[in-house]
Formats: sequence, C-alpha cells, structure tokens
Amino acid sequence: MSQPAAPAPREFYDSEYHFEEDATRPDEKRIWHALRHLNPLAGSEFLDLGCGAGWATRLAKVEGNAQRAVGLDFSRTALVLARKHTPQILWVQADGTALPIADGTFDRLFCNGALEHFPDVAKGLREIARILRAGSTAVLIVPNFYVKTEQPMEFRTHYWGWRRMLESAGFELLKTGIDWGPPVFKNANFKRSAARLAGKIISAIPFMQYQFIFVLRRK
Ligand SMILES: C[S@@+](CC[C@H](N)C(=O)[O-])C[C@H]1O[C@@H](n2cnc3c(N)ncnc32)[C@H](O)[C@@H]1O
Repeated sequence: MSQPAAPAPREFYDSEYHFEEDATRPDEKRIWHALRHLNPLAGSEFLDLGCGAGWATRLAKVEGNAQRAVGLDFSRTALVLARKHTPQILWVQADGTALPIADGTFDRLFCNGALEHFPDVAKGLREIARILRAGSTAVLIVPNFYVKTEQPMEFRTHYWGWRRMLESAGFELLKTGIDWGPPVFKNANFKRSAARLAGKIISAIPFMQYQFIFVLRRK
C-alpha cells in the first residue's frame, strides 16, 4: 500500500502548524532574548521574515517603537491570526525567496526559525541582503544540525556551515548567541519533553547550541 502524500509546505503551515498556540501563548521572554540584539528598534524600519503568528513583529512595533514594522509570511493562516492581535501592522503574504520589496528598504531584520524551511536557503539569504541597507543589523535564528522538527522542509547544517553561507551572502558576523529551545514542559508529550531536555544539556557545549542566534551586519 502506498503512503499518503505529505502535504506541500505551504499547505502544511496553513492547516497543521501550531500558530494558534503561538498567538495565544507567546514565549515573550525567549523572543526578547533574541530581539534585543536589534536595539535600538525605535525609529527603525523593521521586517520580521517568516513571522508566523507575528508576536515578534508585534513586540518590535508596540514595545520597541519601530517606526515601521512589517510581518511577512507565506501562510495565510498565520497572517490572519497576526492581523487579529495587531491590526495596525502591515502583514504581507509572500514567499521568502522572492520578496516583493525594493532594494535597501529595511534597516532591521528578524528571522526566527524560518529561513531553514525555505526551499532555497542561499536564495533566501540573497533576498535578505538585497532588501537591507548597508550597515543594517539582522538577527537570524537557525537550528543546529541535529535539530529535527515536524516541518516538511528543513535545511540543516552546523555552526561553520551557517557561517560560511552568511558570509558569502554579504554579512559580517557580529555575535553568536544561544537559543536554548522551547521550554521542556511545553506540552504533556513525554517523548518531546525528554528530547527538549536533551537539547538543553547539549546546548551548553560550545558550538552545539540548539539554535544559533546570529547577529549580523549587512556589509
Ligand atoms: C517555525 S515557524 C516560525 C514562525 C515565527 N518566526 C516564530 O518564531 O514563531 C516557520 C515559519 O516560516 C514560514 N515559512 C516557511 N517557508 C516559507 C517561505 N518559503 N516563505 C515565507 N515564509 C515561509 C512558515 O509559514 C512559518 O510561519
């Protein structure tokens, strides 16, 4: 008997991803831990690429006082939820590898856990470099090679692999922070809790963090 076909990437996000939970129970502490590297946000032109349910975009606008905050994602389900909690933000539905945005539009970019799911990661990075002004700051949060999620497309590499890709796309690496991953007891799934705990222990080893927080300057 043949296996049922896996849903195409966008369909997966529109129908199966946990955006509802991200919008109703956002982990603000974890988001700020990465977002603070973009300070000062006040007066900036900020893009949240692959914004999902849009909580980081909201924080940049409402708490960070970004002059303009835009949340972009290809999932309609995500953007409908985002618009509901923060209607004053511009929410854009588009593909991260073909951005409908003019060159040098933004000076702050945040991309949390999205780039590695694009069908062409190098192309996504070239698009990020294109829409940022020279001297802009970007924070990209990407997983280490051992992280596996339920999402349909997942590019995985180690610290040096990511670093090579970022530098060849025109970025200078300013700092690398640690994202320790989701809370161990995020839900009542024992297997997942054990995996999250193992991720936190491994994250204490240099270069083995669960996710890298790359703080970058667009050359
Ligand atoms: C793991 S979620 C992260 C969402 C959000 N950044 C957060 O931190 O909650 C990955 C996001 O990437 C988006 N995504 C995946 N591939 C994309 C693509 N090619 N273009 C635009 N968005 C994409 C998904 O719709 C989803 O919202």
